[in-house]
Amino acid sequence: MSDTPADTSKRTWLIASGCVGAVGAGFVAVPFVSSFQPSERAKAAGAAVEVDISALKPGEKMTVEWRGKPVWIVRRTPEQVEALAKIDSQLADPNSNRTAYPTPEYAKNEWRSIKKEFWVGVGICTHLGCSPSDKFQAGPQASLPDDWNGGFLCPCHGSTFDLAGRVFKNKPAPDNLEVPQHMYLSDTRLVIGEDKNSKA
Ligand code: FES
Repeated sequence: MSDTPADTSKRTWLIASGCVGAVGAGFVAVPFVSSFQPSERAKAAGAAVEVDISALKPGEKMTVEWRGKPVWIVRRTPEQVEALAKIDSQLADPNSNRTAYPTPEYAKNEWRSIKKEFWVGVGICTHLGCSPSDKFQAGPQASLPDDWNGGFLCPCHGSTFDLAGRVFKNKPAPDNLEVPQHMYLSDTRLVIGEDKNSKA
């Protein structure tokens, strides 16, 4: 039997996330799913995921699974936050106005996030679904411009994204990386897949 597109994209990101030293914390729903009845399992698969981000250090990324997708949580350094303000003219949609992957209102800002320090985004390229690689190191390097400030490079066709998941101009990916609904329960507890609006 051939893979469905969902199977393929999941395998792609699983392989990719194994290479970047992802922190595996935060899988609240997933480990308990096997003992559920089918309808409960389906519910758990779509459920919001609660994540402990207390161990995430500046400049690091962790990955959690939500609805079969890799969700990245990046803790940006002050320098990385500052750099986001300087590159609007190089971006295809700096203010996240495109609607294929609508950005929640609370992330429609320069940081595409609730807190400047933390960015939450789906790690699937908006071109054909590959998993972009971390390129957090600033400066000249292979396949990237010399004034690179840190971000992500999709190895499939070369799309580049900044550390807010905003896609650079003239790249195959048509949209910024998706920002899922999310909210903070405290400084160290984050919920992905639900926000204050969905609670209202
Ligand atoms: S899938 Fe990312 S650039 Fe094509």
